[in-house]
Amino acid sequence: MAVRHFLTLRDLTPEELRGVIQRAIQLKTELRQGTAGEPFKNKVLGMIFEKSSTRTRVSFEAGMAQMGGSALFLSSRDTQLGRGEPIEDSARVLSRMLDIVMIRTFEHEKIERFARHSRVPVINALTDDYHPCQLLADIQTYVEQRGDPKGKTVTWIGDGNNMCHSYINAAAMCDFRLNIACPEGFDPNPQLLADNAARVTLFRDPRAAVKGADWVVTDVWASMGQEDQQREREQKFSGFCVDHSMMALANKDAVFMHCLPAHRGEEVSAELLEDETISVVWDEAENRLHAQKALMEFLLLNR
Ligand code: CP
Ligand code: NVA
Repeated sequence: MAVRHFLTLRDLTPEELRGVIQRAIQLKTELRQGTAGEPFKNKVLGMIFEKSSTRTRVSFEAGMAQMGGSALFLSSRDTQLGRGEPIEDSARVLSRMLDIVMIRTFEHEKIERFARHSRVPVINALTDDYHPCQLLADIQTYVEQRGDPKGKTVTWIGDGNNMCHSYINAAAMCDFRLNIACPEGFDPNPQLLADNAARVTLFRDPRAAVKGADWVVTDVWASMGQEDQQREREQKFSGFCVDHSMMALANKDAVFMHCLPAHRGEEVSAELLEDETISVVWDEAENRLHAQKALMEFLLLNR
């Protein structure tokens, strides 16, 4: 059987995605009850990081340990990858030693090349274009808080970045409407927008986009690798801060999510982020652990 990768959400079928989310919810309960098994005994996850991380690193490493396996942190700073060894060679060598690999890098094309040469499943732990693991956690959180997102309206406010692209994929897979509000010049990938035009609408006014929303989400204005644009972006995104006045335009029981790390006072107000009657960001962060365990189980054990 061909090895399965998880480079974008679209690598799963909608049904498989639903299964992973349900399993994540179950694994969370099992962990709390102390009844979780150790199905990854002797399995080793390689974690290649070319960008910083707190949540992704810790959730994968802890998740692997909790399920009886182990994880190796491989920074490009101290591997030969960082000294120019071709990605294809790294993929062929590492995948003969490891059982599963996750990669956080810049160009999405790099992870595709790695996957093409890998004998074992490869997971996208964030590229410049997509962050599908975060979407597993976000969907799990919505399902836990409010139920099936099918038919709901989700509003993305901010940069048309990797997270926004993964929300577009999620809209198609979970069958929800997606309103995207970004300033001109910060739109998501036009091809991805065009391919999903039936359920995705682009707005310039965040207040118009948030009307009727059941789920509101934002992210930093300058992603990793764009630090030198921080100042310019702060100006271009003025008016895009999600706060209580913005949430007041959404549906009454709307939830707020943010993948974190958050910049209080920029894309989100400190008061909203801390208001746990609306903001579910801490559950969302925790769910990275459970959702990725379910994903690894699916990829490693075919279930
Ligand atoms: N949300 C997220 O991926 O966080 P880290 O960058 O800390 O991994
Ligand atoms: N868009 C952000 C997400 C961080 C988890 C970035 O790429 O830096």
